[in-house]
Amino acid sequence: MSRYWSDIVNRLVPYVPGEQPALAKPVKLNTNENPYAPSPRVLEAIRHELGETGESLRRYPDPVAKRLRAAVAAHHGIRAEQVFVGNGSDEVLAHAFQALLKHDKPILFPDITYSFYPTYARLYEVEYHTVPLTEQFTISVDDYRQPNGGVIFPNPNAPTGHALPLAEIERLVAANTESVVVIDEAYVDFGAQSAIALIDRYPNLLVVHTTSKSRSLAGMRVGFAFGHPDLIDALNRVKDSFNSYPLDRLAQAAATAAYEDGDWLRTTSARVIASRERLTAALTALGFEVVPSAANFVFAKHPAHDAAAIAAKLREKEIFVRHFNAPRVNHHLRISIGTDAECDTLIDALKAIVA
Ligand SMILES: Cc1ncc(COP(=O)(O)O)c(C=O)c1O
Repeated sequence: MSRYWSDIVNRLVPYVPGEQPALAKPVKLNTNENPYAPSPRVLEAIRHELGETGESLRRYPDPVAKRLRAAVAAHHGIRAEQVFVGNGSDEVLAHAFQALLKHDKPILFPDITYSFYPTYARLYEVEYHTVPLTEQFTISVDDYRQPNGGVIFPNPNAPTGHALPLAEIERLVAANTESVVVIDEAYVDFGAQSAIALIDRYPNLLVVHTTSKSRSLAGMRVGFAFGHPDLIDALNRVKDSFNSYPLDRLAQAAATAAYEDGDWLRTTSARVIASRERLTAALTALGFEVVPSAANFVFAKHPAHDAAAIAAKLREKEIFVRHFNAPRVNHHLRISIGTDAECDTLIDALKAIVA
């Protein structure tokens, strides 16, 4: 608090990102990063962009990321004018709050979901109501049939990993024509159906993607929104009133190459999914209850052990998982899927803790 702060800054509750420990080789299962290096084509593209001298860095990057948008549109079978690009999907989501979700009525999102949503709502002074997940930690779309200024949730949801089928998303979007529905598909490649298939038919649907998870580019900060050109226009109006060059040259080159390597995506996602099933079985054998996950993390609790205490003991062994000190979820741990070797290290440590 300082007398120089604006009122709004005094009222903010900033998002707390997962720890990035300064250790040589932590077992880092706390921020849902990909355990594998990105496609080799990404590295090639970055080297190519830099050239011998880095000459291209003298110049500003393409403000509208034309090549990247074309590659992503081709990958999804849509038009480039249906694609918005931002500095990580967090920035895309922030712009969506300001451009599309700020109306007279409160927006709706689940009580257990990505904790950046309430942060953006406070930043942009968007009123919101939370809608409780069911007892099984699932979203019931009928609970969103109430007046609203917009709806937003991830599919699969975070931190639960639960995914809704496309037909349920369509039922919601079709019934909610008066406001925008934002489906945040950060984890879609690990087992959910994308709602991009619906954007041609529903002008009120915005789908948000990231290269941070399935494409292993969290360090590059590239995210997207897909939707009707009118929605994309709104996001561009905010972008060009905020930062017209959100993506640097290396990020644009890297992300374009990542979208041109579909084989890498399929192989790596399959590996992560196989490790998730293996980890789920091992955790279940130790007595954990694991929410069925369609993401690159699992959400698990042990009926006989305090989750915060488990996380603290793991941390002593340089194993990092995420614990949220919030109602309904404080008995759970969110564990990102690592390599099989990292998952084995975790399981060995947990064996000793819950024995
Ligand atoms: C549901 C969800 N949406 C969006 C993001 C943000 O991803 P990024 O800003 O790296 O694209 C995350 C990151 O963990 C997430 O869990």
